[in-house]
Amino acid sequence: MRKKRVFSGIQPSGTLHIGNYLGAIRQWLVEQKYKEGYFCIVDMHAITVPQDPEILRRRVRELAAVYLASGLDPRYSTIFVQSHVPAHAEACWILNCVTPVGWLERMTQYKSKAQQGASVSAGLLDYPVLQAADILLYDTDEVPVGEDQKQHVELSRDIAQRFNRLYGETFVLPEAVIPTSGSRIRAFNEPSRKMSKSEAQIRGHAVNLIDEPDEIRLTIQQAVTDSGREILFSDDPHRAGINNLLEVYELFTGLDRQAIEVHFAGKGYGVLKKELIEVVVEALRPIRERYYKLLANPAEIDQILRAGAEKARAVAEPKLFQMKKRVGFLIT
Ligand code: TYM
Repeated sequence: MRKKRVFSGIQPSGTLHIGNYLGAIRQWLVEQKYKEGYFCIVDMHAITVPQDPEILRRRVRELAAVYLASGLDPRYSTIFVQSHVPAHAEACWILNCVTPVGWLERMTQYKSKAQQGASVSAGLLDYPVLQAADILLYDTDEVPVGEDQKQHVELSRDIAQRFNRLYGETFVLPEAVIPTSGSRIRAFNEPSRKMSKSEAQIRGHAVNLIDEPDEIRLTIQQAVTDSGREILFSDDPHRAGINNLLEVYELFTGLDRQAIEVHFAGKGYGVLKKELIEVVVEALRPIRERYYKLLANPAEIDQILRAGAEKARAVAEPKLFQMKKRVGFLIT
């Protein structure tokens, strides 16, 4: 039986925070030895909004270093840069031609980005079709992501189904795999909103994966909570801040919720924050140390990315060839 195929990606568009780690990367690590994983740095998605070329180039290597430092192992997982595998762009074009524009205009991420930006590129509207190409080229079974990507993965399924109906069975239908805890980590300074890469530099918003202990301490100490006293998990939007701290504690300690509530019974929010700081500092320390070691040797990172692109091409190109045959391109 073939191993389950896993595909996921992150945009090199800002500083990675613990939401990206807890919602996505942590899931990638869990079964990397038993599944066939493709983990992409989606630079073509990043340029759907303006990017400084030099900064983008630097961030691609930095993101590769984060993947590796977090524990992705190139012996088991394929780590590569999207633009190094041209099949993604070609497959995107073919899929564009079976995707109704109405499906794209309904995407919530497009609507919110379009509202913020002064001018909206065609690439921004087309973003989810490129994401569908990413996923479908690898016959992906599972797409481990945070909650905000659910709609995009569902659209990939819809596009796959439509192509299969029009041209015959071609694509596996992918499933989003969204963790029950950690799928939507909230901003520490504004717990009604999710933690976001584009705001990760704003003081107090996020703990970034490579923050120094002092920065982590300050952010968690200042985290917005409520005027209550009880330390309990809860869905109540007024208690979103405290629930967020508890979820981060849960995920970094691996303890179950009941044990955590018993542990903090009768204690104040200050105690939770103090313990959480220690837990997060210790969890991120090895990642930060490995990250800086890796970045000191960019040639090694580039070599891993080149090898990853070669492995990815070996899967994506035959799939693209099949797509081309199905739609009627002349193959000479
Ligand atoms: P991106 O770069 O915005 O985010 C990367 C991953 O982090 C998750 N995430 C979060 N999880 C929990 N709490 C949060 N506050 C939080 N913020 C972000 C995201 O859900 C995501 O899993 N479109 C994708 C990139 C992409 C992709 C793909 C993903 C392109 N092609 C194919 C999967 C498969 C994106 O912008 O992710």
